[in-house]
Amino acid sequence: MENLERIQSDILDKIKNVSDRNSYEKIKTEIFGKKGIITELFKKIGTLEQNERKEYASKLNFLKTKVNEILEKKIESFDQSEINKKLKNEKIDITLPGRSYFSGKIHPVSQVIDEVTSIFSEIGFSVEEGPDIENEYYNFSALNTPENHPARDMHDTFYLDHSKDLLLRTHTSPVQIRTMIKSKPPFKIIAPGRTYRHDSDQTHSPMFHQLEGLHIDKNINMGHLKGCLYYFVKKFFEVEKVKIRFRPSHFPFTEPSAEVDIGYKIEDGKIKIGDGDKWLEILGCGMVHPNVLKNAKVNPQKYQGYAFGVGIDRLAMLKYGINDLRAFFESDIRWLEFYGFDPLDVPTNYRGLSR
Ligand code: PHE
Repeated sequence: MENLERIQSDILDKIKNVSDRNSYEKIKTEIFGKKGIITELFKKIGTLEQNERKEYASKLNFLKTKVNEILEKKIESFDQSEINKKLKNEKIDITLPGRSYFSGKIHPVSQVIDEVTSIFSEIGFSVEEGPDIENEYYNFSALNTPENHPARDMHDTFYLDHSKDLLLRTHTSPVQIRTMIKSKPPFKIIAPGRTYRHDSDQTHSPMFHQLEGLHIDKNINMGHLKGCLYYFVKKFFEVEKVKIRFRPSHFPFTEPSAEVDIGYKIEDGKIKIGDGDKWLEILGCGMVHPNVLKNAKVNPQKYQGYAFGVGIDRLAMLKYGINDLRAFFESDIRWLEFYGFDPLDVPTNYRGLSR
């Protein structure tokens, strides 16, 4: 009893020197553990005289509460300084500029292929492909193109190896033959792809893109061809009305054959497709020649239909106001940045068809 004061000041001295959480834990056991200083003092109560007990116990309780309080405060300040340290070290510097990244652009040709494919697939056309390297048979002979036809000339066609009969296809029409020989009618397909001709100026590039269309069934006539092209042109150029003109023409693989012009006018220096008194040629078409059907093992007495071939690059130039075709294939990143399309900004009706 007499040394309670001294014990108290000893304990408070000890606590004063606690500087981290570990030594705090140690001191706590030293004081309150099974054999801790205060625990021992409590045990002593039983040995005291009856009249001393009350005072001793209340002093001891007071000491216990006081020590507890001091220790709790200490631990609170340890935790707080721990948090502050963390906050200081792990601070996120929101003034740092974000990491820059480059997002690619969709080339206008890819964009237009997506758009056109989507438009035709809405009316039941499926997509076919053929090789860029063809032979004369698929590119010319099977398409009813005579031996002496000027398109076969070296000045027009890139031959890879005459002896092996290899050339770069001059149009997508060979895909008509490839499609028909591999299955049975009806056929309703489009075939986008690269084509090659000996030509280079502002509107011609030795490599360019076409989209072939072929629809063969039992009762297909020129009315269906017209309806299909009207639908396509309106959808593609996003206009309500469009003036279309079918001009008689000649292709060895169609009979009759036509070239299709669309009406346009110039407004504020820009082309406006739809009406106006000017005409732009956009595609070649016609009713598939009976010889072509025969060559593809389709009976022309039972089946007939139409075919067409559109220049994809030309469509892109018209719709997006690009006036030099050669720039399409020069891979100038600045050109692509300017004319290209944001991959995530696809028009809603084309979403899901990105390649
Ligand atoms: N193949 C022709 C061309 O390249 C276009 C065409 C395709 C014409 C189909 C009629 C039918 O010019």
